[in-house]
Amino acid sequence: MKRIIIASQNKHKIQEIEAITKKFGMLLVSRDEAGVPEIEVTEDGKTFEENSYKKAYEIMKLSGEITIADDSGLSVDALCGAPGVHSARFAGEHAQDHENNEKLLFLLSAVPEEKRTAKFISVITMLYPDGSKIVARGECPGHILFEGRGSGGFGYDPLFVPEGFGKSFGELSAEEKNQISHRARALAELERQLLCRSRD
Ligand code: IMP
Repeated sequence: MKRIIIASQNKHKIQEIEAITKKFGMLLVSRDEAGVPEIEVTEDGKTFEENSYKKAYEIMKLSGEITIADDSGLSVDALCGAPGVHSARFAGEHAQDHENNEKLLFLLSAVPEEKRTAKFISVITMLYPDGSKIVARGECPGHILFEGRGSGGFGYDPLFVPEGFGKSFGELSAEEKNQISHRARALAELERQLLCRSRD
């Protein structure tokens, strides 16, 4: 069985990605399970594509095996795409979710409802030892509320209402979010590209 190393240690992401790779007869193993030492990857790319590639490349260099990595964040139109690749550390290097959310609300305080459009973005890179790669991007459009609603999820979830829904990501159940999220869409795109590759 072909092994794939996943750069993330996030159990939730591992389960989601495993559901797809299993269909293609691939065994997903975490960096820890593969015996690859923990390394600090500086996420200094200007795009989600650059950062997810960087994470996959650093692990692939050490493991010599197919590696998968993802990068995600929130892009707000009125802020020209910010927080973007800086989503995790918007309010500072070790910022907590509530500090990032407060900064976002502050910056958008004078922005009217119709201009509070935003999208979550997820990019998954699957890198092969021969240098070839699959890059799968998923987006979930929506808008930013004036105050948080709901306590589910993580990060900016309480502030984000996906298009066509009356509830924030923080109010939706995990199952509902997982059907429409940026990560779900990137995973669907990964599955599509894996299928094309398996037919080559
Ligand atoms: P990473 O891809 O795990 O590094 O996530 C980057 C940051 O983007 C997170 O720390 C969150 O602030 C934000 N983010 C990414 N995906 C989500 C999501 O599904 N909900 C809320 N925030 C998210």
